[in-house]
Amino acid sequence: MSEANWHRVAATGEVFEEEPIRVQVGEEDIAIYNVAGDFHATSNICTHAYASMVDGFQEGDEIECPLHEGKFNIKTGEALCAPVTDALKVFEVRVEDGDIFVQV
Ligand code: FES
Repeated sequence: MSEANWHRVAATGEVFEEEPIRVQVGEEDIAIYNVAGDFHATSNICTHAYASMVDGFQEGDEIECPLHEGKFNIKTGEALCAPVTDALKVFEVRVEDGDIFVQV
């Protein structure tokens, strides 16, 4: 994958644990999370219906959807409990000099 696919989305100091932020990269609506100092990115839109994951509740490496309380693993996107069955899309993240980049 070329450098052109990496996009700076935030500074590390802007993303706090359990307070994911929403960023837009092209067509992708993305949630950025801080999990114990490591940064991760998933699609911001729940796979069950239309809800924004950044409005949900993060606990460690899990995010709970604000609409019907489906949970996903932030690192893998895996759907963890009903009513969600499809994984969230995850994006590669890298950190350089205090900046967070996402591969889209
Ligand atoms: S919209 Fe997320 S669990 Fe229903």
